[in-house]
Amino acid sequence: MLTINNLEASYGGIRALRGISLHVKEREIVAVLGSNGAGKSTLLKTISAVVKPDSGEILLEGAPTPTIPYRVVEAGIVHVPEGRQIIANLTVYENLMIGCFLRKDKKQIQDDLEMVYSYFPRLKERTKQYGGLLSGGEQQMLALGRGLMAKPKVMMLDEPSLGLAPIIVNQIFEILTTINQEQGTTLLIVEQNAYKALSIAHRGYMMTTGTIEAEGDAQDLLKNENLKEIYLGQTKGN
Ligand SMILES: Nc1ncnc2c1ncn2[C@@H]1O[C@H](COP(=O)(O)OP(=O)(O)O)[C@@H](O)[C@H]1O
Ligand SMILES: [Mg+2]
Repeated sequence: MLTINNLEASYGGIRALRGISLHVKEREIVAVLGSNGAGKSTLLKTISAVVKPDSGEILLEGAPTPTIPYRVVEAGIVHVPEGRQIIANLTVYENLMIGCFLRKDKKQIQDDLEMVYSYFPRLKERTKQYGGLLSGGEQQMLALGRGLMAKPKVMMLDEPSLGLAPIIVNQIFEILTTINQEQGTTLLIVEQNAYKALSIAHRGYMMTTGTIEAEGDAQDLLKNENLKEIYLGQTKGN
């Protein structure tokens, strides 16, 4: 579905991605793990065309992805950014509608709204509430719902667990698994919370300072000694 070859990107001469290669198959959940500053967000921003790559290729179903962010969304890749980026003075409904403004199949939108509400009943209860008044967990749900409203082939999630209580993180990851199974949405999840991400992922990649250090099945990565070192601060099962 998504193939990245030797991707390099930098900020003002400082290289943040140093030759990243990875792939995500259709209907797969893939986790990219790495500590703060590893380049995870830069990777997603480069796929989204928000950051311009220095070299390398990004292929969606075998074809190079567009170089303009909104066209990347049209092509089927949606980015749920770090920190959710909910619009505080728009309602839950209006925030969700932002997710589908590029869609051509407008007739499907009502059905998809019902689909989003079925996964996130809390959003349905709060349809008319302003985004800024939601809790952190609800804002993350809204960000995911907004992403789903674009009907993506690949949904990329930047640290969905960040700043949320463990019980909410568990809920969100459970819903992501259900969405992957029921909607067939391919998921690329970037996380510092390695144990949590690997608990739902099929495969994973470990990233350190702009490079991929290890890759493999989620179960194998969980046994990787380096993973334990990097994430000593993270509580297992959290
Ligand atoms: N807008 C920016 N300008 C300059 N440097 C940046 C910018 N964004 C990120 N960086 C640098 O790029 C590296 C990777 O950052 P980032 O992709 O945000 O890592 P992660 O998401 O894994 O924490 C870091 O060294 C960071 O300081
Ligand atoms: Mg980041």
